[in-house]
Amino acid sequence: MKVLILGADGYLGWPTCMYFSNRGHEVTAVDNYFRRSAATSLDSEPLIPTPNLLQRAKVWEDISGKKINVRIGDITDYAFLLPVFKETRPDTVIHYAEQPSAPYSMISRDKAAFTIQNNLTGTLNIAYAVKETNPDCHIIKLGTMGEYGTPEIDIEEGWLEIEHKGRKDKFLFPRQAGSVYHTSKIQDTDLLWFYVRTWGIRVTDLMQGPVYGLSTGETDKDERLLPNLHYDEIFGTLINRFIVQAVAGYPLTVYGKGGQTRGYLNIRDTMQCVYLSGEQPAKKGELRIFNQVTETFSVNQIAEKVKRIGDKLGCNVNVQTIENPRVEKEEHYYNPKYTGLMELGLKPHHLTDEALEGMFKVAAKYKENINRDAIFRGVKWR
Ligand SMILES: NC(=O)c1ccc[n+]([C@@H]2O[C@H](COP(=O)([O-])OP(=O)(O)OC[C@H]3O[C@@H](n4cnc5c(N)ncnc54)[C@H](O)[C@@H]3O)[C@@H](O)[C@H]2O)c1
Repeated sequence: MKVLILGADGYLGWPTCMYFSNRGHEVTAVDNYFRRSAATSLDSEPLIPTPNLLQRAKVWEDISGKKINVRIGDITDYAFLLPVFKETRPDTVIHYAEQPSAPYSMISRDKAAFTIQNNLTGTLNIAYAVKETNPDCHIIKLGTMGEYGTPEIDIEEGWLEIEHKGRKDKFLFPRQAGSVYHTSKIQDTDLLWFYVRTWGIRVTDLMQGPVYGLSTGETDKDERLLPNLHYDEIFGTLINRFIVQAVAGYPLTVYGKGGQTRGYLNIRDTMQCVYLSGEQPAKKGELRIFNQVTETFSVNQIAEKVKRIGDKLGCNVNVQTIENPRVEKEEHYYNPKYTGLMELGLKPHHLTDEALEGMFKVAAKYKENINRDAIFRGVKWR
């Protein structure tokens, strides 16, 4: 496969580049370093310093003998993106290139506007570039489980059959996001669904839960190949954050009652899910949706696991309940379905004690880099 990976310098993008490259595919990696510059301007640097994308690709080539082509540019700039499609002629495009943080989208009007403009224009440009250069190209788009919110009914995989006044039809599952970022992901899905219906393109939309971990096989080959690990409130995901907080001796910050339940997955499983979706593409004129999680936990359950392992490793972990800066249900029903990716062949890696211990080890190694001021800022939803 010729694979174009957009957002290739990110937490998930860089390991995905190596995952496909290692399996013999021709990879082109695109990024505009938005996340690096946003992290610098918010003083939220990742725990482990990472070489830039060109340097990472060089390290990978030295180690593996395999080349990853790099293009630095902004996918919202169609004059940049279209030639990339024309020159690389991808069979598959993997779209990670978005502003991925809910708190970032809630900091100010400008950051909300940036999130909507960046995420939607990028998705629009990809749909156009595919139509103009190769309508057969399969778009794999990262959505989020946050699109569904926390409804009182089971969450199906993307679609819901509805019977109304004796007639039936199938619709996108009702969505009600909890931040501007998550709302932009709903709008992405709607935009792609429109172009699937109108132009007959093929799209897989992966409704992913918060990802944790650093190890994918490829990332273990050299420290310089590790993904960026954010532990701050803006860019860090919950499990990664709590582990670094535990190592830093900073209490685990549980928002409100801590009953907020979400579906999580190991970064190894993100690699598998995206790869399996690439190998077994959506049909022409199909918007295929999978719920990309492997198990569900409440915030309290995660805090309890991190505390137990942290204490065992001598970290003496405290858990602190703080006023919830977000607007969200703190106790609720949550029962998502997630069988589609397993049917494609996903073999889940669960949140075991060993997995947590492995992450503690890496965090402890880089303990000196932890900036305690970045951990919690309390970005308020209102
Ligand atoms: N990490 C998670 O837990 C998680 C969970 C659910 C969904 N997702 C989705 O997965 C995708 C990747 O997330 P991530 O955690 O790797 O985020 P990330 O911020 O680490 O990576 C995204 C990358 O895209 C780049 N980018 C953003 N806008 C761009 C643009 N206009 N042009 C070119 N590059 C651009 C950024 O510089 C960054 O390197 C996002 O779409 C996110 O919404 C992530």
